Amino acid sequence: MLDRKVRVAIIGAGTVARDNQLPAYMKCRDAEVAAVCDMDHARASALAEQFDIPKVYTDMHALLADGEVDAVSICTGNSTHEGIVTACARAGKHILCEKPMAVSAEQARRMQDEVKKSGVTFMMAFVNRYRQESRIIREFVDLGKLGDVYHARCGWIRRRGTPRGWFTDVKKSGGGPVIDIGVHVIDLTWYMMGKPRPISVSGVVHHRIGSYQTKYVNSWVAGEQSDLPVTTEDSATALIRFENQVSMSVDVSWAINGREKDMFSEIYGSKGGASLNPFAFYGEENGYLVDTIPQLCVPGGWQPAFEEEIRHFVDCVKNGKEPVSGIEDGVMVQKMLGAIYESSAQQREIAIV
Ligand SMILES: NC(=O)c1ccc[n+]([C@@H]2O[C@H](COP(=O)([O-])OP(=O)(O)OC[C@H]3O[C@@H](n4cnc5c(N)ncnc54)[C@H](O)[C@@H]3O)[C@@H](O)[C@H]2O)c1
Repeated sequence: MLDRKVRVAIIGAGTVARDNQLPAYMKCRDAEVAAVCDMDHARASALAEQFDIPKVYTDMHALLADGEVDAVSICTGNSTHEGIVTACARAGKHILCEKPMAVSAEQARRMQDEVKKSGVTFMMAFVNRYRQESRIIREFVDLGKLGDVYHARCGWIRRRGTPRGWFTDVKKSGGGPVIDIGVHVIDLTWYMMGKPRPISVSGVVHHRIGSYQTKYVNSWVAGEQSDLPVTTEDSATALIRFENQVSMSVDVSWAINGREKDMFSEIYGSKGGASLNPFAFYGEENGYLVDTIPQLCVPGGWQPAFEEEIRHFVDCVKNGKEPVSGIEDGVMVQKMLGAIYESSAQQREIAIV
């Protein structure tokens, strides 16, 4: 228990820190952002000025020696998460780690060992779990209102929406839409289904479009720009099997020659179904098909979810609570992501152990 505000440092002064996490921290009354660290001094200073953050670091180890910092938000590129999480855990700092947890399941398992040894609080920034809609769907699943949940369909289809910078360098990102947006839909859908135990994965990833110069298309631009060739996949499909004959199908793309479909997640049960986007429950009453749409008390969408995610992380650190998106879930999601790539490479179904 901390009887004062939690002092947080941001590591990685890029897009997600600036546009999502810091605006959410500014609204969290139990937190104060004490420092920002980026190896690019100009980027760190710009954020410090914009959000009135007192300390700027360019060396993570100097930040970790700062006794005034209780917790860190890791907002750096995917391939750096393992090294930074390890250093933060060893320094006794509580950790919020941006998605994906790592670039491989092996890395995620090593991170789990380090965090366990250190005893710090670790939370995965699986922001979609913190949407009010997701919480309501999971609540209905837990109450048995959908009956036995036996299948889910989820995905996110961008026609031309490949992010720029390190995201398309497989060595830095670990992969394309599977690891970048697939992580959101797989984690969220698995969570809303009640986290059944995965048994195996069959997946195919496609490298058919690569780099393009389409007009009038805006992309998520990473702070670290690069003109590297696109070495990541541009679309993928997968079937995840869970125990008790439960299944999930996943379709994701950064680029495909077809219609856009915003992030979606649909869950099917023996008594009813649920959908995140559009938000609705599907059932039957008195012989009629009935759709139910619960009213939300906060606006739906991304930024309110970031605010809830940050509030929850700070509450866990301050009051010693277990995060809703803890490290075991991070490792399990990483195993499912890794198995999609492995299944595609080996052209067979991969067991999850
Ligand atoms: N939750 C979400 O919806 C969401 C959205 C976007 C990005 N992300 C995740 O957030 C992370 C960052 O993405 P981004 O788009 O903000 O990237 P970015 O490239 O804009 O920012 C990363 C920053 O980290 C800095 N950095 C890298 N290594 C460092 C180190 N060792 N020490 C200090 N600074 C270092 C870089 O200089 C850069 O400024 C990624 O893992 C990404 O997948 C999550």
